[in-house]
Amino acid sequence: MAKLASWRTAVVVLASTSLINGQTTAESTSKADGLVSSQSSTNTGGTATATISGSQTTYSVAFTVPASADNGPNLLPNIKNTTAVQAQDVCPGYKASGVQRTAYGFSASLTLAGNPCNVYGTDIEELTLTVDVQTAHRLNVNIKPAHLDSSNITQYVLSEDLIPFPAQGFADPTTQNIDLQFSWSNDPSFSFTVVRKSTGDVLFDTRGSVLVYENQFIEFVTQLPEDYNLYGMGERIHDLRLGNNFTATFYAADAGDPIDGNIYGSHPFYLDTRYYEVDAETGAHTLVTTQNTSASNQYVGMSHGVFQRSAHGMEALLLPTNLTWRALGGSIDLYFFDGPTQDAVTKQYQIGAIGLPAQQQYWTLGFHQCRWG
Ligand SMILES: *[C@@H]1O[C@H](CO)[C@@H](O)[C@H](O)[C@H]1NC(C)=O
Ligand SMILES: *[C@@H]1O[C@H](CO)[C@@H](O)[C@H](O)[C@H]1NC(C)=O
Ligand SMILES: *[C@@H]1O[C@H](CO)[C@@H](O)[C@H](O)[C@H]1NC(C)=O
Ligand SMILES: *[C@@H]1O[C@H](CO)[C@@H](O)[C@H](O)[C@H]1NC(C)=O
Ligand SMILES: *[C@@H]1O[C@H](CO)[C@@H](O)[C@H](O)[C@H]1NC(C)=O
Repeated sequence: MAKLASWRTAVVVLASTSLINGQTTAESTSKADGLVSSQSSTNTGGTATATISGSQTTYSVAFTVPASADNGPNLLPNIKNTTAVQAQDVCPGYKASGVQRTAYGFSASLTLAGNPCNVYGTDIEELTLTVDVQTAHRLNVNIKPAHLDSSNITQYVLSEDLIPFPAQGFADPTTQNIDLQFSWSNDPSFSFTVVRKSTGDVLFDTRGSVLVYENQFIEFVTQLPEDYNLYGMGERIHDLRLGNNFTATFYAADAGDPIDGNIYGSHPFYLDTRYYEVDAETGAHTLVTTQNTSASNQYVGMSHGVFQRSAHGMEALLLPTNLTWRALGGSIDLYFFDGPTQDAVTKQYQIGAIGLPAQQQYWTLGFHQCRWG
């Protein structure tokens, strides 16, 4: 910082003697460094003279970076721009057709349901949806452009070489006991839900929103219960419980420790914990929120996890009643983990899907000296 500040000062001084057309003068008095006891200068066109410690010196005026270069253009992120176009208001969504059973689930085509909105890019007309039950605890929902050949390679979909796909598990889908049920609808445009079978609770719900899929902008929205409990979406310094008024940005940066800012890692994964009142007779689970719980009652907690396998710049908007997920490209590649404990979700995500971190070498536990302390 000290370096930058003195560089800035130098620029300001130079700018005041060299950048203004015509004749300018600048004066300065002695500095503590003892090098300059007094100085005055005049500037006429390309050359200037200065009197430094009593002797006159001529120098040529060179263009330098103006101080105003420190000020960036006034860019307002769309989420903070109240007049920015809302993709949800103007985009047509998609219609699903051509459903085909596959070995572990089904596939379908998604076709644009109206005129393209081309709001932050160009709408992609045709997408492919695949839904696979991958293990007894993992469901994959994948939406990507239908035509991804060498002619339109600019639509980058994260390669398996870089981040492997979580592996497909067992061979017989009829033996599955996964606690998740996928349902979809075309009314009024394509939407889907993921329901926990054992409780009937809707865990992921895109109803009431449109799917937006453009070459530089993707948006999907899931409704959430009030005062939801979401954790994850790292890496940043923030409360463990993310709250319902927060934007998590995935755009890893070599930044030290900004509160709420994006830092080194990018983990597009969240864990959602919900609490239920359980009917002693029927065993029925009824969702409770902070509005209708009391400290004297007993509740049962259940968690599930959602991983969006994408390496694009993304933003997860945690809003009071929904999670709005935006990406600058790529695909929608969602993995749902049924838990139901937090511990189980973490294991299903790490051991089951993305793999464990590498074991640290013993020598890295030894003495380490670093310029940061
Ligand atoms: C806010 O969004 C509108 C509509 O897209 C745009 O015209 C305007 O320039 C934006 N404002 C800023 C400060 O970026
Ligand atoms: C790729 O090209 C096809 C036409 O060959 C087009 O329909 C499709 O929208 C393109 N996909 C992307 C992602 O631009
Ligand atoms: C998501 O929540 C925001 C803020 O409450 C709201 O403005 C928006 O309409 C919601 N979107 C959908 C699709 O429900
Ligand atoms: C949401 O957060 C913003 C800034 O982080 C704050 O100004 C605003 O008051 C918060 N809104 C609510 C309803 O808490
Ligand atoms: C608690 O409130 C939520 C939503 O506000 C509602 O869906 C749920 O049924 C309520 N639970 C009970 C046990 O009243």
